[in-house]
Amino acid sequence: MHIIKVKNDRELSDKASDFLLEEIKRNPKAVLGLATGSTPEGTYRELIKKIKKEKLDVSQLTTINLDEYVGLSEDHPSSYHAYMNHHLFKPLGLTKEQTHIPKGDAPDLEAETKRFERIIQECGGIDFQLLGIGENGHIGFNEPGTSFDSRTQVVDLKPSTIEVNSRFFDNKEEMPRRALTLGIASIMESRRILLLASGERKQPAMKRLIEGPVDEQFPASVLKNHPHFTLIADEAALSGV
Ligand code: GLP
Repeated sequence: MHIIKVKNDRELSDKASDFLLEEIKRNPKAVLGLATGSTPEGTYRELIKKIKKEKLDVSQLTTINLDEYVGLSEDHPSSYHAYMNHHLFKPLGLTKEQTHIPKGDAPDLEAETKRFERIIQECGGIDFQLLGIGENGHIGFNEPGTSFDSRTQVVDLKPSTIEVNSRFFDNKEEMPRRALTLGIASIMESRRILLLASGERKQPAMKRLIEGPVDEQFPASVLKNHPHFTLIADEAALSGV
């Protein structure tokens, strides 16, 4: 695990966007694994600025998103589809054909998990996976206790995740109880992985990630087994380490 300590969220966004930019420059046909949540918002903002400044061609990229809430359609304002359209796809002009997010409103969710795994295989796997981390150590929506062998799946969210993520819903009751997520094994097959953590809220998770064992009760710990895993975290997140 390679750790990059930055001052604050602004510096984190700058560094993380550089990683993505380098990946795109190295391979304009890269398959990028993308994450949602508040942490990568600044990264996407900086990435858009840098891509536009350097006039990079993004028409051959493929993107694969980690997860989506069960029951939300693409146009639900709190769906991860809506998040990605707003924060990255629309500003960069990425098309529906090149961007993939699990469909939360698929009539057959099991079939949707299989379809999504197939898409990843057909793209030749994920070159670069961007991740955030839940306060309980979840990656994607793989909650504590998820098998490290898991593939794209339907999961029940933990009450703590429902509580934390309901801030993104106008009406807390609308917060879904289930999600579709890439499994841990699917994430670990990515060629490179970059995890971002910002703010005091992530302090206990950072301490457990850095100092604790690799353990299914703390999903992000599996990343320490990956040969090309980088963590960018700010001073607030790392203050307990
Ligand atoms: C959600 C997402 C995760 C993300 C996590 C952290 O649960 N499914 O992929 O890493 O939130 O979010 P934030 O960056 O808002 O703390």
